[in-house]
Amino acid sequence: MSDTGKPRNSSHPGLYTLQNCEECFHNIICRSADGILIISADGIVRFVNPAVESILCRSAAEMLDKPVCFPLGSEEKQEILLNPPDQGSRVVEMCLTATEWEGEPVRLASLRDVTERKRVEEQLRQKTAQLEELNKTLLEKVQEEVDKNREKDHLLILQSRQAAMGEMIGNIAHQWRQPLTAISLLVQDLGECYVYGDFTKDYLDTTIRNALKVIQHMSHTIDDFRNFFSREKEKTAFSVGEVVTRSLSFIESSLRFNNVAVEVDIDDNLLAFGFPNEFSQALINIISNAKQAFRERSITEPLIRIQGGREGKRAVITITDNAGGISEQIIGKIFEPYFTTRQLENGTGLGLYMSKTIIEKNMDGKLTASNVEGGACFRIVI
Ligand SMILES: Nc1ncnc2c1ncn2[C@@H]1O[C@H](COP(=O)(O)OP(=O)(O)OP(=O)(O)O)[C@@H](O)[C@H]1O
Ligand SMILES: [Mg+2]
Repeated sequence: MSDTGKPRNSSHPGLYTLQNCEECFHNIICRSADGILIISADGIVRFVNPAVESILCRSAAEMLDKPVCFPLGSEEKQEILLNPPDQGSRVVEMCLTATEWEGEPVRLASLRDVTERKRVEEQLRQKTAQLEELNKTLLEKVQEEVDKNREKDHLLILQSRQAAMGEMIGNIAHQWRQPLTAISLLVQDLGECYVYGDFTKDYLDTTIRNALKVIQHMSHTIDDFRNFFSREKEKTAFSVGEVVTRSLSFIESSLRFNNVAVEVDIDDNLLAFGFPNEFSQALINIISNAKQAFRERSITEPLIRIQGGREGKRAVITITDNAGGISEQIIGKIFEPYFTTRQLENGTGLGLYMSKTIIEKNMDGKLTASNVEGGACFRIVI
């Protein structure tokens, strides 16, 4: 006996004898987990191993010398579905091979129960489908939220622009008040001259020239405001001092009306890179807030100081007021959308939120607020 317990040829220990060989094959076939079935050319079962009995749930006696109990297709490899009584349906994988058995042509069918594998595969397929569905809905949900956010941002921008426009219209009204008075005086004068007989061609020409000059100035004001609201598509290098001066010119009448003094101290060569109109919009929001704080708190000598300098490669602009500052309870919230303490004048609470968006999101800068002696200080780094 060999060490594996199998009989060997005693003169040649490495070789099995013919008889031993048969015994060995019989053993292997009997112990194989795959079913082995020999079927004659006319479909009669000639041999089954024990595995076939358990796969087909029939005894060898029930099958031998009888027609095979499942349809034999022509394919070499096929799957057959079995429904044995009192058991669930089973899937059997079958491989058919043509061979010989005791001198006659037969087919050898090797059977393997793949029910469990199929069940696991089906589970996996279902889980994959569920995951794909989940993934899809997750993507849809993310997209939905992104769209909602974009819509919200869009609405915020629209609202804040409308608010800024409302303010601008107020500023235009301020800017126009004086030229309108001038024109009305010129027209009144014309009538009076005619009544008193001083009306000459020269006088008429001068009056027309003066009136046209004033009207031209008014038209420039409108152009300036319109340019201010035109959207810039590309970032450009701009002079900070120039943009500050232009921004102040938009609101100078209303600042003057509120007795607000403005001190500007900015390097002539101070350049920044970004969207000058948007920067101007942020500046006007900050200056308007200071103006409102002066009014609410009845500050007697309101002063806004605008300073600009360079820190490394970046431009730093500070806007400081003497309106008493921002209380510590709210200073952390002033940049949130819709945060406002203004009840009387119906603040939208979008001014600083938009300013921060412009400076930080659109221009990669930084906008912060702090309290300094006597007031608030807004610091822009771009
Ligand atoms: N210079 C300042 N001094 C004191 N408080 C300020 C100053 N600037 C802003 N604030 C406070 O920050 C709040 C938010 O300002 P923000 O500009 O975002 O909105 P708002 O001015 O109230 O309304 P809106 O600008 O939309 O008309 C103000 O309501 C105010 O309480
Ligand atoms: Mg504001």
